[in-house]
Amino acid sequence: MPNTLNQIKIAKSFDLATNSYDVSARLQRYSGKHLMPWLPQERQLTVIDLGCGTGFFTELLSGNFERVIGVDISNKMLNYTRSHRKVDHLVAGDAYHLPFQDNSIDLIYSNLVIQWCDNLAHLFEELMRVLKPGGRFVFTTLLDQTLSELKSSWAQVDDDKHVIDFKKDIDILSTLDSQGWELTCHHVQDVILEYENVLHLARELKGLGANHVPKKQHRGLAGKDKWQRMTQAYQDFVEPSGVYPATYRVFSGQIVKPLK
Ligand SMILES: C[S@@+](CC[C@H](N)C(=O)[O-])C[C@H]1O[C@@H](n2cnc3c(N)ncnc32)[C@H](O)[C@@H]1O
Repeated sequence: MPNTLNQIKIAKSFDLATNSYDVSARLQRYSGKHLMPWLPQERQLTVIDLGCGTGFFTELLSGNFERVIGVDISNKMLNYTRSHRKVDHLVAGDAYHLPFQDNSIDLIYSNLVIQWCDNLAHLFEELMRVLKPGGRFVFTTLLDQTLSELKSSWAQVDDDKHVIDFKKDIDILSTLDSQGWELTCHHVQDVILEYENVLHLARELKGLGANHVPKKQHRGLAGKDKWQRMTQAYQDFVEPSGVYPATYRVFSGQIVKPLK
């Protein structure tokens, strides 16, 4: 299961967010639904929902495919899914070391998970190992413009890391290219969510479990003074209506494992 200290911390933040996740997951619902038209039409498939979280999409996929397995690194998320969704198969597992045999899976669906995986080459290798030839990996992730308003507001206060390092699209494309895999389709979209204030944004990120920031030097909450300076800097982005925007750059993609 979680193999590194960083993954243990990621699993712990998602554990803690289990009960607040669904009410905060407006971006996740939107991006996950936009992947649906890319899914194959055949029913008789074995499908993984990788990083299934509270199982909203695992349940939806279970209505479309014969065998759907939710996989997550967080045991609390899995327990929540077990008790709230109509889902037959759930497995604790880490995306880098999936508990499945080579060439055994037809489709891997994954919504807003792989931004938590630093080593994309290692991740894609593992996904291609378990997919059957001709099998598909259909996914969304977040790119580096995500939370640019928050990142730039913090940058005016200190040089610590307050937002995770999201990959650039070129990182994804060049990793695939170096391994000889091809994106058969992809799409990038900026989704701008609206908040009442910066505290509302911070609470939503915490409610989603997205508040663990690897490589942050100073743990815990920032002091009151720093927080006030950051929220002051965020005013530059506030719209005339008083709405606080936050940008999420969503990358959706599909990779098909070559037949040979
Ligand atoms: C933002 S949530 C998305 C949940 C779900 N896919 C959805 O659309 O609502 C990310 C999920 O990925 C899981 N996760 C993060 N890193 C993982 C890894 N290395 N292996 C498996 N699951 C992971 C987290 O525990 C969390 O449940």
